[in-house]
Parts: sequence; C-alpha cells; structure tokens
Amino acid sequence: MSDQYKKQAAEAAIEFVQGGMRLGLGTGSTAAHFVRALGAAVAGGLRVVGVPTSVATAQLAESLNIPLTTLDETPELDLTVDGADEIGPGLVLVKGGGGALLREKIVAAASGRMIVIADQSKHVECLGAFPLPMEVIEFGLGATRNAIERAASSLGLAGDIAVRGKDGQPFRTDSGNLILDASFGRIPEPKALAGLLDRIPGVVEHGLFINLATQIIIAGPDGLEKISA
Ligand code: 5RP
Repeated sequence: MSDQYKKQAAEAAIEFVQGGMRLGLGTGSTAAHFVRALGAAVAGGLRVVGVPTSVATAQLAESLNIPLTTLDETPELDLTVDGADEIGPGLVLVKGGGGALLREKIVAAASGRMIVIADQSKHVECLGAFPLPMEVIEFGLGATRNAIERAASSLGLAGDIAVRGKDGQPFRTDSGNLILDASFGRIPEPKALAGLLDRIPGVVEHGLFINLATQIIIAGPDGLEKISA
C-alpha cells in the first residue's frame, strides 16, 4: 500500500513542474515514480532538463528520454523533487537510505526549491527511528566512527554505527565512499547534531537535510497533504 501512496505523492508533484524548468531528479522508489510521471509528461511535449542524483536515476531518466544535464553545464536549478526516509518538524529530513545523500544534497542545495514526496509513514514527530546515513571516506574509518560517537554522545545520543553492506561487501556510493548508518533511535536536536558532524573531516556528508525542503507532499489513507516551509 505504501508504494501506492508514494506514487500518488509523486504524481501530485508534477503539477509544480513547468515548461523550461531545470530540475533536480531524486533517488529512491518514490523519486522513481516522479521520474516516470515526468517521462510521460516529456513524451506529451513538456520541455525540461534534469540533473540526476544517482547513476540509477540517470539510467531511468535516459530510458524515458528525459533530457539530462549536469551541474557543471547548469549550476542553478529551479526545482528538485526527491523522496526522504524521514520528515521531521521544520521539514528537516533524514535521507540516504538509498545511499545517494551526497549527490542529493548537492543537487538540492543548487535548487531554488525542493519538494519532498513521501508516503505518510515518513512524516514523524521526532527524527531518528530510521538509522542516520553518513557518507564517509574509507581512510581513517575507525577514527571517523569514534569522532561520530563522541559528537553524538555530547548530545546524549548513543547507538550502533554500522558500515552498510550489500551482497556481503561494503556498500559503495556512486562517489566510491562508504556509508555508516547510525541507530540513535531519537534525534531531538538535528541542527546541533548536523553542526557537529559537519566538523568531522572523514564525514563527507550526512543525511540530515536542514533548510533545504521548501514543501512536502505526503500521501496516505486520508488523501494528500501539502506542507510548505
Ligand atoms: C536515497 C534517499 C531516498 O530518498 C530515501 O531513501 C527514500 O527512498 P524511498 O523513496 O525508496 O522510500 O534518500 O538516498
């Protein structure tokens, strides 16, 4: 059922897309619904260009004949549409369940607006039930993990910090880095945690998205809900 809600939220986001827009294209199953809806609109004559946030999204968009560009060619975007793992108070997000958080954050930061599409289960009162993904450099992994533990502990947070695996190997991001997933359980002060993680050299980027989402579109049994920042 949640996939049906993801699809509804994704299709509702299409109404915010206008001809000539430069779009950031998110990653994950909800974002893929949006890319498919966008592909149908492009087939119907809509003219846009997209910057994909992952190899997977680029492949999907190419298969649908959506014109693609890069942030080198097109450094400023009008709108990014992406999913999230959690949406908390103040439209602060946890992202990175699909391992694309670094490119997703770069693309969102280059966009004038970011619409987050999700099924209702992602909208939470307190972030942290979903383990917080962090993209880290392999070099110095033990020291980086210790530094994350100390930063979290200074805010009263603790929990397992695991290297993400895939098929018996460490998962590699599109940029060749590792992902650490931190099971803190609750993150009542995401801005404070983000500020501390930003200062750890081995953390390339973390999955807390702050002041990036400008609107969320949530779909659930009671229909669609749109909330603006
Ligand atoms: C990928 C992400 C995704 O947006 C997030 O994991 C949500 O995925 P899905 O739409 O499949 O539930 O952050 O890095």
